[in-house]
Amino acid sequence: MGAKISREEDRRVLIIGASGFLGSKLFSALSVESDVIGTFFSRPALGLVYLNIQDKKQVSKLINKYNPHVIIACGGMTRPDECEKNQKRAYDVNVKGMNNLVECSKGKIIYISTDYVFSGEKGPYCEHDDPHPINYYGWTKYEAEKIVLKTDDNNLVLRVSGLYGYNERNNEFIETLIAKPVIYKADNCYSSNLFIDDVVNCINSFWNKSVRPLFV
Ligand SMILES: NC(=O)c1ccc[n+]([C@@H]2O[C@H](COP(=O)([O-])OP(=O)(O)OC[C@H]3O[C@@H](n4cnc5c(N)ncnc54)[C@H](OP(=O)(O)O)[C@@H]3O)[C@@H](O)[C@H]2O)c1
Repeated sequence: MGAKISREEDRRVLIIGASGFLGSKLFSALSVESDVIGTFFSRPALGLVYLNIQDKKQVSKLINKYNPHVIIACGGMTRPDECEKNQKRAYDVNVKGMNNLVECSKGKIIYISTDYVFSGEKGPYCEHDDPHPINYYGWTKYEAEKIVLKTDDNNLVLRVSGLYGYNERNNEFIETLIAKPVIYKADNCYSSNLFIDDVVNCINSFWNKSVRPLFV
């Protein structure tokens, strides 16, 4: 079962991070009905083009070549532990990279952010809650959000929490569950996890509507 998408033939969509968990699901679902260009960084896949978001010339070249109406930004460093250990890289990819995208874009940007922009002290959170990131990953995502929102009133930020679901192209989550006999997880963390198909449908319903710019 997959996300159902309505037809919009003249819609050209660029997905940054189409080799990732959410990006690859979006790529498959939106390609059925729209002209979709997807990028990879370290994991090449059929139909995707290479992009390092840190390289502004590459970003500009890609956008000028395809002229997307909408850019869905779900690429970057997404693992909190890696961001903590490699803070310069996390900043260069997640913050400077988004700045490159925003400066080169001519259309709407839908930026996929995270509930890590909040401290986690309370919850569930809503759009009116003030962000207060307590780790470097959350901080880079919040900085990128501000860049996206201050540049264009049409841009959107979606703060999603832990994603789950099936994905033909990228099934790291399920493969890990099958491969490892024992998985260690924190037992003092609570999260409102999201079904990945719901996120895809939600994104699809957003772009030609006038909606408020921030969703949690
Ligand atoms: N998954 C979750 O549970 C979750 C929860 C909350 C928020 N989010 C947010 O949702 C979005 C998607 O998450 P995800 O789980 O799908 O991420 P993911 O599987 O880790 O994918 C990240 C994507 O970013 C690409 N990328 C990495 N470095 C890049 C660079 N320098 N230039 C361009 N692209 C680069 C990767 O390409 P390669 O793989 O080819 O290297 C990959 O396509 C992220 O913005 C994340 O912060 C995810």
